[in-house]
Amino acid sequence: MGLIALLGSCLVLASIATSTTADPLTRDQLYSQNGFLQNWVAPMPTAPIAASSANSTGASGGAKFLTQNWNTTYKTIAIGSDDISFVADPFAATANSSTTDGNSTGPVLQLNYPKGSYAPSLGPVAGGTQFYASPFGDKTPFSKMMISYDVGFPNGFNWVLGGKLPGIYGGAPYDGCSGGNQSTGTSCLTMRMMWRPSGLGEVYAYIPADPKSSFCESSEVICNDQYGKSIGRGLIYFAPGTWTRLDVIMDLNQPAGDQNGLLQVYMNGNPAISLNNIPYRSTGMVGFQGLFFSSFFGGSDPSWASPTDQTVYFKNLQLSVGAAAQLYEGSGTSGATAQKPTIGAASVTLISLVAIVLTLLAM
Ligand SMILES: *[C@@H]1O[C@H](CO)[C@@H](O)[C@H](O)[C@H]1NC(C)=O
Ligand SMILES: *[C@@H]1O[C@H](CO)[C@@H](O)[C@H](O)[C@H]1NC(C)=O
Ligand SMILES: *[C@@H]1O[C@H](CO)[C@@H](O)[C@H](O)[C@H]1NC(C)=O
Ligand SMILES: *[C@@H]1O[C@H](CO)[C@@H](O)[C@H](O)[C@H]1NC(C)=O
Ligand SMILES: *[C@@H]1O[C@H](CO)[C@@H](O)[C@H](O)[C@H]1NC(C)=O
Repeated sequence: MGLIALLGSCLVLASIATSTTADPLTRDQLYSQNGFLQNWVAPMPTAPIAASSANSTGASGGAKFLTQNWNTTYKTIAIGSDDISFVADPFAATANSSTTDGNSTGPVLQLNYPKGSYAPSLGPVAGGTQFYASPFGDKTPFSKMMISYDVGFPNGFNWVLGGKLPGIYGGAPYDGCSGGNQSTGTSCLTMRMMWRPSGLGEVYAYIPADPKSSFCESSEVICNDQYGKSIGRGLIYFAPGTWTRLDVIMDLNQPAGDQNGLLQVYMNGNPAISLNNIPYRSTGMVGFQGLFFSSFFGGSDPSWASPTDQTVYFKNLQLSVGAAAQLYEGSGTSGATAQKPTIGAASVTLISLVAIVLTLLAM
């Protein structure tokens, strides 16, 4: 099995090496190449909507649009409901087909991060927003997910130490896996993006990983016992004053006790991060579930706070899923219901051939 996994990684690496010289991939190409089955395009308003100071219960303005149209979980936006508005695209002039997905000309989502704001549940001032959404329902977890969006930072943006950017959740929402509450691998996971100083970016993961695992020892990974794990720091770059398109593709580890989950991140259609040793979960009861829209400065102390009122923009948010995950108790295989992670039809066929040859040799 180890040898087969190794051959599998060679195939993945080989395919990435070939595609770096190729044209940037569109989201549609990534969707079909990876065999996704359902797609959700986050609805956007046709006219600008102002922010409103109403709280999540009495949401109005931009927050109300989200609670009514984005399948937010429990119909609430817990944090930052007064920091959400929809405005004319500030980067329309610099956008092109690789930095944005599509060419919609309508309003884009603007988040405000007031002076002094950081980690919304801790700081004195709330900034940005955080909410969960389950556009495919909250009953069926999925084996495979892709989140895509365009994010834009204004020229002169002060990055401070970093901040959260949207991603996905697995298992139950609100079940930890953020804010320093670690993943045990049995009930939840979260995979968000972060910006770091100087516009560098990374994937920020709450997943169960032993500090001594091959995952934590990967050169692209920084494991942290207290908060999330950083994957590929500096392999993403957010150029200010324009859009950056992100496509993040994730495939569950299977069986759940093996560290063989896949993660591929494309920046403006080009491969930027690729790992095949991700421990997304430690039992078969967790699968990918929905959107974890999280964006704020921080970080859990005032050294992360925004020194001035700042804004970040989002558009073309989409979420795609593959087959339903086959859930099972424990960390091993689940017999007949176990699913292999799919790397792509061609690679899977090759791996199967290699497996047959190896099996024959071993006999
Ligand atoms: C939110 O606003 C509603 C309506 O104005 C109010 O009844 C409720 O107490 C507020 N909730 C919080 C947590 O402030
Ligand atoms: C698209 O925009 C990016 C970032 O501004 C730029 O580097 C790239 O050259 C542009 N591509 C085209 C085809 O204009
Ligand atoms: C928008 O994209 C579509 C499909 O790629 C293309 O046919 C159309 O000409 C584009 N429109 C503009 C205004 O660029
Ligand atoms: C998501 O929200 C839309 C609009 O309210 C609704 O039509 C759709 O049924 C919802 N989807 C799910 C899975 O609840
Ligand atoms: C973290 O866990 C504590 C204690 O169970 C809980 O009060 C808090 O709400 C959790 N925070 C998050 C972000 O889940």
